Amino acid sequence: MIFNLQDLKPVDRQHYLQHVIAPRPICFASTIDKEGAVNLSPFSFFNLFSANPPVVIFSPARRVRDNTTKHTLQNVLEVPEVVINIVTYDIVQQTSLSSCEYAKGVDEFEKAGFTKEAATTIRPPMVKESKAKLECKVLEVKSLGEEGGAGQLVICEVLVLHIDDSLLNEEKKIDQTKVDLVARLGGDWYSRVTSENLFQVPKPNTKLGIGIDALPEGIRNSKILTGNHLGMLGNVHDVPVIEPSFDDEHLKNIIQYYSLNPADMEKELHAYAARLLDSGKISEAW
Ligand SMILES: Cc1cc2nc3c(=O)[nH]c(=O)nc-3n(C[C@H](O)[C@H](O)[C@H](O)COP(=O)(O)O)c2cc1C
Repeated sequence: MIFNLQDLKPVDRQHYLQHVIAPRPICFASTIDKEGAVNLSPFSFFNLFSANPPVVIFSPARRVRDNTTKHTLQNVLEVPEVVINIVTYDIVQQTSLSSCEYAKGVDEFEKAGFTKEAATTIRPPMVKESKAKLECKVLEVKSLGEEGGAGQLVICEVLVLHIDDSLLNEEKKIDQTKVDLVARLGGDWYSRVTSENLFQVPKPNTKLGIGIDALPEGIRNSKILTGNHLGMLGNVHDVPVIEPSFDDEHLKNIIQYYSLNPADMEKELHAYAARLLDSGKISEAW
């Protein structure tokens, strides 16, 4: 189906967009109003937009239901400071609880059972239980409209980053396999980033990959190799030259066994290459 966004009701726009623009990281925002009352709420319309200057943006939208604004938005307009606490699996249920529409002045730290920890440069408190927290100054609030559902972009400069030691390796860099992040998708769906579902894609060849269009036709049109396989093969800088010393028993067997049947030989060779690529052995697959 093709959906023209103009023809969709706001609630349906939200449905379709949130299910495919996913998973989204969660900004668990701690703010205060001008009287100093604390508010804590999660926002998944959130991301990193610049490293230098360090800028993140999140969006407490106007409610689709009744076009009211969120306390978080009201607070950052009064006191332009926010702690963004990063949400990991161990705090996801409490985070969700804090998103209830408690009355203004109700402290969601207490409602959701979190501990306040003083930030070092700004007034809103941090969530002690969060393993990564960003102390931010609000640079600008950019309204995207006055209607229900309209995003209100809170553009923040990150001043200080707190990272729990348990996430760091010996070089004091973050070990991605240890972070156990959660992210929001459509409806009630969340995803959890565990070491089992992480994988790496090496950065594209800086010397320029040859490209899929430069692969030999038989490989490019293979019925066995997938787009992912072709992407790996096309990332080499030059079509590799097979070394005369290259020795592979399985390859020899395929060539011997299918010597009278070139079509089946090609299928077997491609299936073997696919298995090698799936285990990251790109030069062997070539
Ligand atoms: C994981 C999660 C992500 C959310 N993301 C957003 C969001 O990006 N924008 C938004 O307006 N509301 C979002 N909400 C809903 C708000 O958290 C909710 O409206 C909350 O009551 C706002 O609180 P406040 O009025 O105290 O600021 C999200 C809720 C959850 C549980």
